[in-house]
Parts: sequence; structure tokens; C-alpha cells
Amino acid sequence: MENKILQSAYSPENFRKRGHQLIDQLADHLDKTLNEKYDKVIQWNLPEDEYVFWKKFLADGNQAHLFSEILKHTTHVHNPKYLGHQVSPPVPLGSLSGLISSLLNNGMAIYEMGMAPTAIERIITEFICSKIGYDNKSRGFLTSGGTLANLTALLSARKAKVAHDVWNDGSDRDLGIMVSEEAHYCVDRAARIMGLGDKGIIKIPATSVFNMNVSLLEEYYQKAINDGITVFAIVGSAPSTATGMYDDLKKIWTFAKNHNIWFHVDGAHGGASIFSAKYSHTVNGIDQADSVVIDGHKMMMMPTITTALLFKDGNHSHATFSQKADYLLNKSRDEDWYNLAKRTFECTKTMMATKMFSLLAIHGAELLAANVNRLCELTEEFAEMIR
Ligand SMILES: Cc1ncc(COP(=O)(O)O)c(C=O)c1O
Repeated sequence: MENKILQSAYSPENFRKRGHQLIDQLADHLDKTLNEKYDKVIQWNLPEDEYVFWKKFLADGNQAHLFSEILKHTTHVHNPKYLGHQVSPPVPLGSLSGLISSLLNNGMAIYEMGMAPTAIERIITEFICSKIGYDNKSRGFLTSGGTLANLTALLSARKAKVAHDVWNDGSDRDLGIMVSEEAHYCVDRAARIMGLGDKGIIKIPATSVFNMNVSLLEEYYQKAINDGITVFAIVGSAPSTATGMYDDLKKIWTFAKNHNIWFHVDGAHGGASIFSAKYSHTVNGIDQADSVVIDGHKMMMMPTITTALLFKDGNHSHATFSQKADYLLNKSRDEDWYNLAKRTFECTKTMMATKMFSLLAIHGAELLAANVNRLCELTEEFAEMIR
């Protein structure tokens, strides 16, 4: 009996049949959504009602309706009226590549658990690095989300800029980072995870147009130093989440350079401007950042979750999590690029690189530029409407 259940669950024929049905269903959904045949982006239900509905479905629902009910009960991000959240309407090809990852389930921690996606990930991150304007010393990896990527970048910053080895020895000194009060909350959260506490998160007030008030940087830095805090990093937002305003990355870089602190750019939302000749000016100075985060699932048309963390000097990405015993920085740079768990927070992760690679291989990089341009133009139109 047990064997029968397993056989049926893994049956290639069942997979084929259900797969064809599901693709047809999703293609119809895409057609209806894109062409506004559904009148709403979301058919709102109260959380408690939704919970009861799915409880009941599990007890006695009609299996044949499972996927159609999921479609009915979710947010339709491909609807042209969808706005206000940053999760992208994924390009369908990216979703199909996600299916490959789900079935093949190559965990990516070490090379033998994902040969193609590991090599592909290197190609993708090299491509993004070149668009940032980094030279061939740069290197990066993909990781599960902007939140995790920002935390990882700050850990790299601490490793690089704090004189003592906090990762291995802990710290009894007050450490701190500087960031705009308008930055995404995950930067604050990352700092707290790192034990920096309230006084180690030096929030720079925003201007009247909601970007970092860079004229206050020296004053806030000096105050922190006088309070005995070792400031090791500054984070620029490209852009901040609530308003879409980009910080002045060039000015932040100059400040970081003068004080020898790490310059990180949280470009989770809009770092994709690097792909557009028309809008790349919004991230002027990004090529000077020590590290950059860009979310694929925001302005790069990827399904969740696909985030790139890029380092101007790739050596730093190998040092972040190194223990004393394996801290052979120079050696590991070239030898271990293909054993990704050494550099990423995760051990197992999805084969996210295949999604981006399919986009590049089949649609080409111009699709990314077209998407950034379209989103920015729509935003400009919207701004005009509400002015
Ligand atoms: C500027 C910015 N940084 C970081 C994040 C967090 O990224 P993720 O949702 O991929 O964890 C967001 C998400 O909205 C964001 O807007």
C-alpha cells in the first residue's frame, strides 16, 4: 500500500498530465489577468474567512478545483491595475525555469549539488557586476531575498572594517552603522541581529524630499565617535521603499572614503536602473560601492525569490563567514567560487540563477532595460496625475 502511494506521487505520467493541465490553467489566468478580464487585482477576504475556507477545503474540498481556487484567492500581480507593492509580475519564462528548480531540487550549497546552476550563477553575477561598472576583481552570488542580502553585506562590512575579528572572538566594543531614516526596515533589523542595538543604528534624517540628508553626515558621524562608537559602514538606499527616492550615492561614497568605512547600497528595489541607459543616472556612484544588493523579484521580472549581492572586491565575499581554520582568503577566492555555501548565509537554496539565465538567454538583456524604462515612465505619469 505504502509503495503504491509513493509510486503514484512520483508517477511521471501523473506529472505530465497534471503539468499540462496546470500550464493551460496558468496560461488562461495570465490571459485573463493581463487583459483585465478579471475586474479586480484581489478578491478580498478577511483573514479569518480565508483560514476557514482552506481548512474546509482540506477536509472535503474538490481536488479538481485546487489550483483554480488558489488562483481565485490570491493577488493577481499581472493585472495592469496592480500597483503599490514591489513584487514584480514575473516574466512567464522565469516561472517555468522555477519549475525546473522545484523538480530538480539541486540544493546549491556545494558544487556537486548544482553544477549548472552554480556556473550559471557566476555568469549572472558577473553580468550584473559589469552593469554596475565594477571591474574583474568583483564577484557576487545570489541569495534568498534583499533582507538576507543586506544582513550578509553588513556582516562582510564588519569583517572588512572592524579591526578585531568579531565573527570569531565576539566584541565588547560599541559598533555602529549609518543609514537614512527612510531606509527599508530590514537594514535596522540586520543591525539589531548583529547586536548593534539602538545606539549602533545611526539614523540620518531625510530631506523634505525623503532622501538622506547628506549635509548631516559629518555631524552625526562625529557625535557617534564622541560617544565611543566605531562606525564601520554606511548604507545608501537606491531607492528607499516608501517614496522611491534615491539617496545621493556619490556624496555618500565620498563620505565613506574619507572615513574609511564600508559603503553599501541597498538597491533591492531600484538597483535594476543599471540596466537602463535612460535611468542609470539615478544610481550614479553605485560603481564605487563596496557592496550592492539588487532584488530580481522587484524590478528584474523574476519570481520570488532571487536576490543578487555583489562585491566590488570579490575577496570580501569569501571572508564573511570564514572561521579561523579556513580563513585562507587569497587561496579560497579562486579555488572555492563554486562551493557557494561558504559565501552565502543559506546552506540549501533554490536554483535561482536558472530563472535569470533563461531571461538573458531567451529574451536578452534589452528586456530588463525595457522593463525598467516602462516602470519609471509609469511612475512619472502617476506623479504628474497626483501633483
Ligand atoms: C529598499 C528595500 N530593501 C530591502 C527590501 C527587502 O527585500 P526582500 O523583500 O527581498 O527581503 C525591500 C523590500 O521591499 C526594499 O524595498
